[in-house]
Amino acid sequence: MSDPIRLGIAGLGTVGVGVVKIVQRHASLLGARTGRAVTISAVSARSRDKDRGINLGDYAWEDDPVDLAKRADVDVFVELMGGDEGPAKDATEAALNAGKDVVTANKAMLAHHGQTLAELAEAKNVSLRYEAAVAGGIPVIKSLMEGLAGNRITRVMGVMNGTCNYILTRMDEDGLSYQEAFDEADGLGFLEADPNLDVGGIDAGHKLAILASIAFGTQVAFGDMRLDGIGKVSIDDIRRAGDLGYKIKLLGVAQMTGRGLEQRMTPCLVPATSPLGQLVGGTNMVVIEGDAVDQVVLRGPGAGEGPTASAVMGDICDIARGLRLPVFGQPAETLVPATPANAESPARFYLRMELVDKPGALAKVATALGENGISIDRMRQYDHAEGTAPVLIITHKSARPDLDAALAALPATGVVSAEPVALRIEDV
Ligand code: HSE
Repeated sequence: MSDPIRLGIAGLGTVGVGVVKIVQRHASLLGARTGRAVTISAVSARSRDKDRGINLGDYAWEDDPVDLAKRADVDVFVELMGGDEGPAKDATEAALNAGKDVVTANKAMLAHHGQTLAELAEAKNVSLRYEAAVAGGIPVIKSLMEGLAGNRITRVMGVMNGTCNYILTRMDEDGLSYQEAFDEADGLGFLEADPNLDVGGIDAGHKLAILASIAFGTQVAFGDMRLDGIGKVSIDDIRRAGDLGYKIKLLGVAQMTGRGLEQRMTPCLVPATSPLGQLVGGTNMVVIEGDAVDQVVLRGPGAGEGPTASAVMGDICDIARGLRLPVFGQPAETLVPATPANAESPARFYLRMELVDKPGALAKVATALGENGISIDRMRQYDHAEGTAPVLIITHKSARPDLDAALAALPATGVVSAEPVALRIEDV
């Protein structure tokens, strides 16, 4: 057997503990697969005394992850602290500068600093791997970068935040309000320390930005993404969408269009019978479309100790085997700055509005839509309450700027009594 591959693990939360467990539990299996013993030299975390239910006695301890990153007995620095700045970035840069390979689960750091870190890693001729950063246990980076390398990728889509999908599923299946489902997810420990990372779509947006870079050969461009969270999705919308044969999902879509790179992470309607529509609970799904392969659907656990540690270990095994790949699938210097699409691809839209229940109200709405180029495909009125008439409209394929103009024109009609809800219907 060749020399052991020696890990330094920074961060002993859920994922770090999971990695230690796999290294301890599967020593012979990892050795057989990589031809090298996989060992841990040293670890680092915020608290040394905390009982994590694992034996760390054989490993050296470092208080400072930067010191860990530079240790002579560390070949691979495993960054599992999180956060786009601060210790995670400092230690990652220290490791790369010291000529160490790095494995990280840190989507925020890659979404914000992916290009500079990739340039640094490639200048130092070391690996920077991050399978665990996107969709937890699903080997999506490997699929996109290796298995689908022969394709021109046309579109990448995904439900990549399990917490949001859990909340939407509880609302749909059990009639919980958004707040009730949110509180339940909180009680179960699903939410990030800053819940807006989850429900604001930011965490999933980080993941989509990374996938878009690999798929389209562009520098990571998280700042250009359209981000709408799930906070405004109501049980009414879930019910109405269901009546029409749709589910509401926090869906990420990235595609290269004639207008530039389109990246969206927004609540969308998808057909209830589609794989994305059938995805329930905390599970993730990524759909990749390529000119040769057509469509590939990957489904699996997007978070948690075992699944995320599984992805980290996959990267470690690749490094141990000597597999070297450019960080985003092609040399960082060849990644082009993304030109953001100046408008979203046209789509059908779901519109829900409350109208004042008086003669001519609907006609005024139809006129406002029509004057802005929005054509109605289907329309339904339901459950009249005292003085108001809820109306549901499905548009024909429309340009988003036209829709926005139509929505802006509605208050002047004097017949719309609450802010309309507009959700994109995605063809999947
Ligand atoms: N908070 C994320 C989720 C997991 O709910 O999917 C880590 O990205």
